[in-house]
Amino acid sequence: MDQEALKKQSAEAALQYIHDDTIIGVGTGSTVKYFIEALSKIKGRIAGTVASSVDTEKQLKMLGIPVLDLNAAGRISLYVDGADEANQYGYLIKGRGGALTREKILANVSEKFICIIDESKFVDILGRNSPVPIEAIPMARSLVGRKVVGLSGNPVYRENYLTDNGNIIIDAYNLNISKPLELENSLNCIPGVVENGLFAHRPADIILIAKANGIETIKPR
Ligand code: 5RP
Repeated sequence: MDQEALKKQSAEAALQYIHDDTIIGVGTGSTVKYFIEALSKIKGRIAGTVASSVDTEKQLKMLGIPVLDLNAAGRISLYVDGADEANQYGYLIKGRGGALTREKILANVSEKFICIIDESKFVDILGRNSPVPIEAIPMARSLVGRKVVGLSGNPVYRENYLTDNGNIIIDAYNLNISKPLELENSLNCIPGVVENGLFAHRPADIILIAKANGIETIKPR
């Protein structure tokens, strides 16, 4: 089974966690795109959505799914999003698509966070295959780079890219992520950093891993 088919499978598996008349937070990325397509088929059952990016908002609206402003939405019972990497504790690396800040806000306000991935994203040790993306205000670019070097990482500026919030992304490669909670804090303490793509303080509650032989469900907590 190819990776796209697996992404679709994990996205569709998330539908069973949706309760009628609730508001759903929607992540960003190619796996979430399949979730949005699946959601469009039951759109009459939900009260609306909150989008984690401009791209997601466009996709939702194109399929006639109502999109609400987070500050007006009230209670969000479920947030569904992909990840670049996930481990058995529900800790994630996110942000290859650059939407990490809004994604982290949505994960935090939601009662339940379901992460949808194909099996290639499930890892023993975070950071082997993916950098940790860091969103920073443009002025802080050099400072953030130097601080990442100070943490023994390799910072790579994402060229010709601005986030939906008008900020830059620095991808931090080779960081030691043996203590994800501490590292998430340390990166966010660098002046000018808006947010980073380590999701340890708000891990996923459920991970749906699509494998060739079906869906594996992991409940880290
Ligand atoms: C975007 C993200 C995505 O969830 C992550 O990059 C996974 O994307 P995809 O499903 O396309 O592999 O964090 O900011």
